[in-house]
Amino acid sequence: MRNYILFCTCLAAASAAASPDSVQQRIHSAPFGRAGDQSVQIFTLTNARGIEARVMTYGATLVSLQTPDRQGHLKNIILGFDTLQPYLDGVPYFGATVGRFANRIAHGRFTLDGKSYQLALNNGANSLHGGNRGFDKRVWQAQPIDTPAGAALRLTYMSPAGEEGYPGELKAQVTYRLNDDDSLAIDYEATTLAPTPVNLTNHAYFNLTGDPGQSILGHVLTINADRFAPVDATLIPTGELRPVAGTPFDFQQPRVVGSRIGDEDEQLRIGRGYDHYWVLNKKDSASLTLAAVLTDPGSGRVVEVRTTQPGVQFYSGNFLDGKPVGSGSAFKHRTGLCLETQHFPDSPNQPAFPSTILRPGQLYTQKTLLIFRAS
Ligand code: BGC
Repeated sequence: MRNYILFCTCLAAASAAASPDSVQQRIHSAPFGRAGDQSVQIFTLTNARGIEARVMTYGATLVSLQTPDRQGHLKNIILGFDTLQPYLDGVPYFGATVGRFANRIAHGRFTLDGKSYQLALNNGANSLHGGNRGFDKRVWQAQPIDTPAGAALRLTYMSPAGEEGYPGELKAQVTYRLNDDDSLAIDYEATTLAPTPVNLTNHAYFNLTGDPGQSILGHVLTINADRFAPVDATLIPTGELRPVAGTPFDFQQPRVVGSRIGDEDEQLRIGRGYDHYWVLNKKDSASLTLAAVLTDPGSGRVVEVRTTQPGVQFYSGNFLDGKPVGSGSAFKHRTGLCLETQHFPDSPNQPAFPSTILRPGQLYTQKTLLIFRAS
């Protein structure tokens, strides 16, 4: 049975400064099954215009996201499942919060303050997205909160020292806030008891048609970046930051995703399509700046991505192959694409990349904002 968390007097008082619409903001919670001996909850956040985000405590995962097309019809624009079991059986990070370190770390090895660390290897010779059991496969503690801008859900996970080989106990927090201005804010925070690399992101696969059977190759994408990071055969950045101008990686103007994906290009061949990191054009490192704009010309749905992070991994769903994932349905090749705002991949081994080391006493904060509209 659904447990309705109504905003009673105490919460109404907390949001006294809110617009009249804010009383309609709400969060519902419901049981979503069990992961081992832990129960999993799913929360439904709704905004004043009916946009709906569902988030579960397993992996602090965005399970679905309903936004209107140009006629106002709501449809789910991310890949996901209605039940927990497929996630437990193993899906490629659908909607999950990825950590402790998103993207790859070469050979799962790094040296920090003179000490070497060996992480779990779960992607050939490399460590990917936090290892065998990263933050996407942990049950987070959830706390619904009301804010003047919209209903929010704060999720917290304590990652013990040594988990997946990472040093230091890390407290990670992600807050999803669905705003009445038709945007979803994803705020990350972390603190640590010992120095550790940290790189958190969300791994939603977008398909703005609302039909997961359709390809994303007709979507139109803009990326606010004039450089990208070429990779070696194992998808580790070579260290070069290459200008996108004159290459199929140039999305500075709106481009159809599929228009150059089959071009004869060494980097597209290595990535089996787009699976690369774009370095955002930023005036100052901490500002919330435009990362990308994704449009589905058919439905008119648009998602604009802004972030405080220095870059975005654009992954065109190349490894989705039509085989059932988890125990759920099949997602065909390139029926979802990810825009993972994050720090540079393999930073702990790349001295020229900005540091991702968090030390005791420091607060890690990042923010990504998804803005929804229809054109
Ligand atoms: C990576 C891909 C990987 C996918 C799913 C993306 O972030 O860049 O190489 O296949 O995640 O694991």
